[in-house]
Amino acid sequence: MKKDLYPKSQDIAIRHMRAEDIEQLVAQFCFPWSSIEATRKLWQNYYKEHQENIRTVGIVEKGGRIAGYGSLLRRSEYPRFSDIPEINAIWIDEDYRRLGVGKKLIAYLEEMARKEGYKQIGIGVGLYQDYGPAQKLYFQLGYVPDGNGVTYKCQPVKPGEKYPVDDDLILWMVKPL
Ligand SMILES: CC(C)(COP(=O)(O)OP(=O)(O)OC[C@H]1O[C@@H](n2cnc3c(N)ncnc32)[C@H](O)[C@@H]1OP(=O)(O)O)[C@@H](O)C(=O)NCCC(=O)NCCS
Repeated sequence: MKKDLYPKSQDIAIRHMRAEDIEQLVAQFCFPWSSIEATRKLWQNYYKEHQENIRTVGIVEKGGRIAGYGSLLRRSEYPRFSDIPEINAIWIDEDYRRLGVGKKLIAYLEEMARKEGYKQIGIGVGLYQDYGPAQKLYFQLGYVPDGNGVTYKCQPVKPGEKYPVDDDLILWMVKPL
């Protein structure tokens, strides 16, 4: 087998999603908590939004393999981001983590928003341990809480109420561009 002569984080490319990526994304990123059908539907929907300019999906590629993805979403579900584009659905393949790829992908999406004239960009992050790396990454890149507490299903949580600690419990953060 040919030896990889370059560190993994080099020779990566980030490009816009193409229709033919859908099946590779479904095959590579069908997670245990989802199904092939649901994953295909998700990516078909992301691609439709990509074509309609509602979101732009950035694909991280290395040697023909998809190493990660992330979107710039121009129509956030979070009401306070009505005029703020959101960095959404970021995922780096486990083989390529901790190599600066996530940082590069976010810089790529931020640059896209800057070129479109946005003065601010936002991101939402979960509160439980799986989101620890993302929390550290966003803080390191200069994202700060938007000052409105956390939301559940995009609505502010109410003191004294009970909410499950799941993917819908989110802290929203912003950064000037
Ligand atoms: C979060 C994620 C995108 C980071 O991608 P990555 O390519 O590994 O990130 P980078 O290599 O660019 O890391 C940059 C910084 O993030 C932080 N970080 C990343 N992974 C970390 C980890 N496992 N533990 C602690 N800090 C971490 C560090 O501050 C790191 O800087 P350093 O390496 O100089 O210390 C990746 O872990 C991932 O896909 N996680 C699962 C999906 C997810 O949580 N998505 C975000 C949803 S909001």
